[in-house]
Amino acid sequence: MPKPPNLYAFEGTSQLAASLRTFVLDAQHSSIERHNVFRVAVSGGSLPKILGQALLQDHGDGKVQFDKWEIYYADERAVPLDHEDSNHRLVQEELLNKIPAELGKPQVFPIDVKYLDDIQELADQYEQTLVSRFAAKDSVRIPIFDLILLGCGPDGHTCSLFPGSPLLRENEAWILPISDSPKPPPKRITLSLPVASHGLKIGFVATGAGKKDVLKQIFDTEEGRQLPCGLINEIAQDRVSWFVDYSAVEGVSFPARRGSL
Ligand code: 6PG
Repeated sequence: MPKPPNLYAFEGTSQLAASLRTFVLDAQHSSIERHNVFRVAVSGGSLPKILGQALLQDHGDGKVQFDKWEIYYADERAVPLDHEDSNHRLVQEELLNKIPAELGKPQVFPIDVKYLDDIQELADQYEQTLVSRFAAKDSVRIPIFDLILLGCGPDGHTCSLFPGSPLLRENEAWILPISDSPKPPPKRITLSLPVASHGLKIGFVATGAGKKDVLKQIFDTEEGRQLPCGLINEIAQDRVSWFVDYSAVEGVSFPARRGSL
């Protein structure tokens, strides 16, 4: 019997960040044991800040082994890497630039800004980056990240996969271009749904009362299960863990484990 996703709720961001740290470190530990590398995909929005809090709060324990990390982008905006809309810039500011030397340096895979004017090419090139790191595309059906860290938009989007988008039906390409994102900026690239839902572990972070209506939909209703976040829950089942605060799950009937992993 498939098991449902895990929903963990916390009073505030610091408790959430502490449990997110445990979740990420567990994934890191088993990935390094399995193949001596930890391949992580991260999105933008509010996630990088909480991730920074989670990973940098306690660096005296020596548990984060950034030198084994490969960081990819679950979605990225088609802008220069120093642009204020760039997810890479956000991750740099919230995490990468703050990593103390003793924790090692992750290998980071930003988009190739040579192709900003052609988002299909931008997506294809990023897919080639994955092909070169994960295995040739004809030998693996799908790249399997050790961990994918995602956010949830108030409309139920995740990565740059928006409700009702034809991109949700794509099952060949690993990386897709989008030129009309309802959330600005319009031009982006994103993991496809099959790749986003096949991470060995998938963590969603969603905080604040602005998320309670969509979380109720996703967890408690049939139509919410068709939203991009709901589809990932359906496909990945208990490989998915949600880290939310109490205000984001107010009124949600699906059982949340409160206060701890
Ligand atoms: C992006 C994101 C996007 C984000 C959600 C949630 O680059 O726009 O990857 O999918 O994760 O919109 O954003 P918040 O966490 O800021 O609400």
